[in-house]
Amino acid sequence: MASPTLICDTQAWKDLEAHVEEIKKTHLRDLMSDVERSKSMILEFDEVLLDYSRQRATLDTRDKLFKLAEAAHLKEKINRMYNGEHINSTENRPVLHVALRAPRDAVIQCDGKNVVPEVWKVLDKIQEFSERVRSGSWVGATGKALKDVIAVGIGGSFLGPLFVHTALQTEPDAMECARGRQLRFLANVDPVDVARNIAGLNPETTLVVVVSKTFTTAETMLNARTLREWISAALGPSAVAKHMVAVSTNLTLVEKFGIDPNNAFAFWDWVGGRYSVCSAVGVLPLSLQYGFSIVEKFLQGASSIDQHFYSAPYEKNIPVLLGLLSVWNVSFHGYPARAILPYSQALEKFAPHIQQACAPKQSACMVSMESNGKSVSIDGVPLPFATGEIDFGEPGTNGQHSFYQLIHQGRVIPCDFIGIARSQQPIYLKGEPVSNHDELMSNFFAQPDALAYGKTAEELRKENVPSHLVPHKTFSGNRPSLSLLLPSLKAYNIGQLLAIYEHRVAVQGFVWGINSFDQWGVELGKSLATRVRKQLHASRTKGEPVEGFNFSTSTLLTRYLEASAD
Ligand code: F6P
Repeated sequence: MASPTLICDTQAWKDLEAHVEEIKKTHLRDLMSDVERSKSMILEFDEVLLDYSRQRATLDTRDKLFKLAEAAHLKEKINRMYNGEHINSTENRPVLHVALRAPRDAVIQCDGKNVVPEVWKVLDKIQEFSERVRSGSWVGATGKALKDVIAVGIGGSFLGPLFVHTALQTEPDAMECARGRQLRFLANVDPVDVARNIAGLNPETTLVVVVSKTFTTAETMLNARTLREWISAALGPSAVAKHMVAVSTNLTLVEKFGIDPNNAFAFWDWVGGRYSVCSAVGVLPLSLQYGFSIVEKFLQGASSIDQHFYSAPYEKNIPVLLGLLSVWNVSFHGYPARAILPYSQALEKFAPHIQQACAPKQSACMVSMESNGKSVSIDGVPLPFATGEIDFGEPGTNGQHSFYQLIHQGRVIPCDFIGIARSQQPIYLKGEPVSNHDELMSNFFAQPDALAYGKTAEELRKENVPSHLVPHKTFSGNRPSLSLLLPSLKAYNIGQLLAIYEHRVAVQGFVWGINSFDQWGVELGKSLATRVRKQLHASRTKGEPVEGFNFSTSTLLTRYLEASAD
């Protein structure tokens, strides 16, 4: 059998390799002076504006990227995804997160069956349950209303819901609906995370939602057992039925755990963990906190982008353009990282959701890096080029006072600037030249130009900068970025943003020819932890010596056992 063609062997890829050498001779200062070019690099869909004129690319680059998309059969792959084909071939599963937010009357086939009615059956159940809890008609074991929720889950069963919750927390309509309620997330198996989550909460008024696709994830299950104990110790074992519910694809294990299957909210194998925020994984905890109607708007925003992604031609398709530009930056310019820079404190958990793994609470995988950090093609052929990028980010302006130094004068890192036209919480101070939000947005508009244009030695000398400081104050510029401007940050817009980034990741994976929907790379560490766990148990309970590990791990383990012995 002939070996499958890798994308890097196509003429379209080779043309781009030659083309980037020409682009490297240009400077964004010059590219930006071509207004016609800029005009055709700004587009809008459903009030989301994308400006990619500060990419180190020309219109010719864009055409060549479209040819690459053709060579990669991008459109066919998108269609296969929407048609419910088993495009996650290593797990033999469809990839249908778009069905999670499809309108009630949509038809999305999966293995010969329209899955939309099933999706809405669960959504209706969530609506009904969350209304009962919020209205106080579902009460805890002692008859008190459940006003606080701890969602226990990790990775995709945590980061997406945390991102949306954080974004909604200061949105006025959502705030109104959340009055008097709390939503917390327990992810890390670190007992400190348990302590922080239960601090100040009363089991009598707390509902625990155990969120796990597999219902086997070690961290989540230990945390779930810990909270079950917390509830049982305070209210007796029978209280678990009233105080614990679950979200999972594995309803058998939910029941075994002791949660009534009637209080379980299902989702399906065709939802990848990191793409599950629009399933019960996110919809249940968010509906408990904000009410279903707010969450429904979030789903509608995502659905609007789903339809756009499916039907818009490449030159008008925001996720397609973003994905192709990322491929351009990673594979041709050789930029290894991407900074996600929302000028919005409410989006502080957006980069962690897209990237996965920065602050201590974010421990495992996620949308971009878990999806596209692969080293073989979808057919298992080793790739001679790197896929994926290192995503990181912080809200502006905070980031400006930390890592932006490197972005401006150190390594070249393509940046996504995300701005919001109307603040969730505007402040207008008397005597100030602009509102607080305008002040924030001044930076959103200034930073991309600082990166693109830089500052030359000649300009500095004209400003009489002392000559010994000129090299230090020079900015090379020519650093690419793109800007996304959203009209506001309501639930609908949060859904739009999520779907744009989800589909962008898929575009990249489709073009690189990898499987963006499996995550075998997280397994080895998990199985090694199982061996360590057995050793710790044997050493602690039977005094068995540490055995079977390399010298380094044995030394560390022995030291740990000694230092932590009671
Ligand atoms: O370890 C990675 C991972 O499998 C993710 O893909 C997933 O989102 C997370 O663990 C949690 O898995 P589960 O929802 O099955 O507990």
